[in-house]
Amino acid sequence: CGKKEEPAAPAAPAPAAAAPAADKLKVSFMYVSPIGDGGWTFQHELARKAIAQKFGDKIETSMVESVPESADAERVLRDMAGQGNKLIFATSFGYQEFVQKAAADLPNVKFEHATGYKQADNVAVYDTKTFEGAYLAGIVAGSMTKTKTVGVVASVPIPEVVRNINSFVLGAQSVDPSIQAKVVWVNEWFAPPKESEAATSLINGGVDVMYQNTNSPAVLKTAEERGVYAFGKDGDMSAFAPKAHLGSAVIDWTPYYSKVVEDTLAGKWQSGNFWWGVKEGAMDLVKIADQVPQEAKDKVAKAKQGLKDGSFAVWTGPIVDNKGQEVLASGVVGDDAFLRGINFYVKGIEGAVPG
Ligand code: GUN
Repeated sequence: CGKKEEPAAPAAPAPAAAAPAADKLKVSFMYVSPIGDGGWTFQHELARKAIAQKFGDKIETSMVESVPESADAERVLRDMAGQGNKLIFATSFGYQEFVQKAAADLPNVKFEHATGYKQADNVAVYDTKTFEGAYLAGIVAGSMTKTKTVGVVASVPIPEVVRNINSFVLGAQSVDPSIQAKVVWVNEWFAPPKESEAATSLINGGVDVMYQNTNSPAVLKTAEERGVYAFGKDGDMSAFAPKAHLGSAVIDWTPYYSKVVEDTLAGKWQSGNFWWGVKEGAMDLVKIADQVPQEAKDKVAKAKQGLKDGSFAVWTGPIVDNKGQEVLASGVVGDDAFLRGINFYVKGIEGAVPG
């Protein structure tokens, strides 16, 4: 009983405090751009904070930002595992091979790869239907363009991005089928100066409403300077361009991250392939500008309702590519396999998908 009175040695944590810490599920996130990007990574970071709050002392989260899609990524993943993380989210497409390599050596760690397509026993893939947000933004663009020419600053040429470009244009053409579109590729996810240059060249080419698939608000800021319109993507970017901003197509990763943590804590984590959208509360078009006509706002609300109740799908035929080839016949809805393989531009888009 004398032991009780002894003060604890300062360096040694009391067993009572150490035990729960050891039980905590350690969860880590790897990001391709800075958390301050205002878009893609910012939004993953918001979700990380949301689950940290929700699960309290059951989990301990951490993140590493600005990790390139190179061997650096594999090193970071292995380091995260070495630090005791048992659930790791890798949140950029180009991490795919590095996730596969690290996961093969670390069977006791669960990996979640955003937007990839390669699964393994300990690798699940997940994505958000960003093309639904692009389509909703397209409706607004179609109602606001005066030059009848919209534009997209595109990032990395993968099906997801090509699908988003097309979906934006399909939305615009649902308002006016004569609308044309231009695309400039920057071949990176996060490159504000390049994003801005690409936006400038679109504007110089007659584009007056822009969308982007890059991570920063650079396109919006350029639109603001040049007196044209643009959208926020992934995060709410309204604050970056009060005059140019027409709406933000926002991803909420929180519902999915909550589900994964819940499953992991319950010992029920499984590899899978999840693709949530407007219906599941993962995607929305928010902060539609006051200057957008009520008719366009109503059209957005109707499309959103249709996506929620399943009565509407963005990729419903007839859809024709920009070479005049029918890609979906009248009334046919593109299934997931079709959507994941889109490698053409729809009618009205100038140029060709980079080979
Ligand atoms: N990495 C950074 N941004 C993105 C994005 O929009 N999509 C994918 N797949 N990866 C990203």
